[in-house]
Amino acid sequence: MDRRAFIRTTGGGVIFAALGGSLTGCSSRLPTEALAAWQDAEKETDPRRWILAHAVLAPHSHNLQSWLVDISRPDEITLFIDPTRLLPETDPFGRQILMSQGTFLELLDLAAKQKGLRADISLFPGGVFESKKIDARPTAHIKLVRDEAIKPDPLFAQILKRRTNREAYEMRVPPQKSIQAIVNSSYPYPLSTSYVTQDDPPFMDQHRRIAKEAWRIEITTPRTMLESMKVLRVGPKEIAQHRDGLSNNEPMLRLINALGLLDRSTAPGPQDSTTVRLIEDFNAKIDATPAFYWLLSSDNERTTQINAGRVWVRAQLAATAEGLSMQPISQAIQEYAEMQGLYKEIHRLLTGNQGLTVQMWARLGYGPAIEPSPRRGLNAHVIKV
Ligand SMILES: Cc1cc2nc3c(=O)[nH]c(=O)nc-3n(C[C@H](O)[C@H](O)[C@H](O)COP(=O)(O)O)c2cc1C
Repeated sequence: MDRRAFIRTTGGGVIFAALGGSLTGCSSRLPTEALAAWQDAEKETDPRRWILAHAVLAPHSHNLQSWLVDISRPDEITLFIDPTRLLPETDPFGRQILMSQGTFLELLDLAAKQKGLRADISLFPGGVFESKKIDARPTAHIKLVRDEAIKPDPLFAQILKRRTNREAYEMRVPPQKSIQAIVNSSYPYPLSTSYVTQDDPPFMDQHRRIAKEAWRIEITTPRTMLESMKVLRVGPKEIAQHRDGLSNNEPMLRLINALGLLDRSTAPGPQDSTTVRLIEDFNAKIDATPAFYWLLSSDNERTTQINAGRVWVRAQLAATAEGLSMQPISQAIQEYAEMQGLYKEIHRLLTGNQGLTVQMWARLGYGPAIEPSPRRGLNAHVIKV
C-alpha cells in the first residue's frame, strides 16, 4: 500500500488516537528522564537552587517553560523570559507568557517561605514592557532574605502533587467548602475569582457552548493549530530530548512517526477525521465537567498578568489539597483575530460588560490520577555568565 493510501484509509482516525491524546489529554507512561525534575527538587542542597528547582515545576502555557534566571549574585535571582519560547499565534500579546512568569514566582515564593526566607520580589526592575510586546528586560528581581517572621504556607505541600488534568471528570459537584477554599486561595491582589457548578444548568450550558466553539476555532485555524503541532513531542526519544511542550507516548502515534507518516508541517483540514475526532474528544471532556472556575482583573496591566498567574497556581494548589483537578480552557480568552467574537461572548458572560478582563477560565472537578508533565530541570534555566 502506498503511503498516501495508508494515511487516507486508516491515517486520520489512527493519528487522532494519539494526537488527540496529547492535545486534549491522555498519554501513556512518559520516560523517567523527562520527569526527573519532580524528584530532583528535593535533592538540591543549596537553598536558592532548592527554591528554583521547585519553581520550575510551575504550570506554563503549552508547557514551554520560558523561564531564564541569572543567579550570578549571591542571594539574588533575576528572572527573564526566554524569547525563543513564546506563542505568537495564540498569545500574540504575551499575556499568558506573563501569567506563566507569575506561576513561577508564586512557587518560588512558597518554596522560599518553606526555607524561612522572605522573597523580596520587584516586578519589572528595568521598566514595564509595553502592553503588546514582550522584551528583553527582566520580569522580576528577587532578593532572598532570612526572616524569623516568615511562616510556611500550607499550599507548598501541594507543589509536587499538582497536575493539569485534561481527563474526563466525575459529574458530582464538589462540596461548597472545597470550592470556597479554591476561590479563597487568591493571593492578596485585586483579582476576583468565581465559579459555576452543575447546580446551575443554564449557566453551565453557556460555558460549555463557548468552550466547545472556541476549541473548534483554535484547531481549525491552521496557524494556531500548527503552533501546538510544533511543540508536539512524540515517543520516548523526543520527549526525553525536549522535556517540554505537549508530550505523547502512545504506541500508535510512535509507529506512525517512525514510519515518517506524521506530518507536523501542515494542519489537518476542518473535515479531516483527525479534526473531527479532536472536536468530539474535547466536547466530551467539556461535558464531563461539573464546574467551571474563572479569574477576573479590573485592568490588564503587565503586573496584573503576572499576579493573575500567581493567583492561578494558588487555585490549582488549593484544588489539589481538596483532591480536585483543574484544567485551563484558554481558547476563548485568547486575543487573536479569529477568536474575537467568542472573546467578547465569554467576557459578556463572566463580567457582564463591566470592562473587566478574564485572565483564566478552567474546568474543575474530580479527575483520575495522572502523571506529571515533563520538565527540563533547573540547569536548563540558569543563564551562563
Ligand atoms: C496561562 C496558562 C494557560 C494555559 N492554558 C491551557 C489550556 O488552554 N489548555 C490546557 O489543557 N492547559 C493549559 N495550561 C496548562 C499547561 O498546558 C500546563 O501547565 C503545562 O502543560 C504543564 O503541565 P502541568 O501543569 O501538569 O505541570 C495553561 C497554563 C497556563 C499557565
